[in-house]
Amino acid sequence: MARAEQMPGYLPPAKMTISGVSADWTRGEFLAWLANRMEWRHGAEIGVSFGVTLRLLLKRCRGLHMLGVDTWTPNDTPLEPADWTAAHHERAYASALAVEADYPGRCVLLRGPSVAVVPPDAALDFVWIDGDHTTEAVLADVAAWLPALKPGGWLLGHDINWPTVKAAVDQVVPGYMIGPDSVWFRPVHPVPGWWAAVA
Ligand SMILES: C[S@@+](CC[C@H](N)C(=O)[O-])C[C@H]1O[C@@H](n2cnc3c(N)ncnc32)[C@H](O)[C@@H]1O
Repeated sequence: MARAEQMPGYLPPAKMTISGVSADWTRGEFLAWLANRMEWRHGAEIGVSFGVTLRLLLKRCRGLHMLGVDTWTPNDTPLEPADWTAAHHERAYASALAVEADYPGRCVLLRGPSVAVVPPDAALDFVWIDGDHTTEAVLADVAAWLPALKPGGWLLGHDINWPTVKAAVDQVVPGYMIGPDSVWFRPVHPVPGWWAAVA
């Protein structure tokens, strides 16, 4: 697999300046800040791996319930690192199961391809996309998970500095903003001045 920083068009992560937000926050710190600010109660993470971000969200956002989606198996996309073997994914799954166990009633893991496990109701406040980083997969995740968002829900994702991710997000999430740690984000139906109302 080509490392992201070797891809044509790769940009080093930018230090974004947003009022009230530290440019040095991790994706999880920024998501938790937003989730508390917006009083989100139900979210989904596409691509959980070890559950680092999932755990941080559940710890910092007391009223939040999360779906955590991952195949936890090697996939054949060219972007998956070569050392993400079956054993790596099993270790990651065990770690994610521990997160689920630590937050009873607030966390449900769904093991399978993201587009195959979308919940039937439009009940989520936000969907955080950090799974397969190919352009096709990000396009498919946005299309599959949009119907699971409440009216007024938000789409967010990681690694907008990856050309493959940016190609998809530019296409189907116009007008998105960029936060710390290369997070892209936007409400599905933004109104003029929407960010000023948050920050
Ligand atoms: C970058 S890691 C996620 C990191 C995690 N979001 C965090 O912040 O700690 C990407 C994960 O996406 C998962 N993944 C890749 N393709 C997937 C797919 N089609 N459906 C679900 N998960 C997928 C991989 O198994 C991997 O664990």
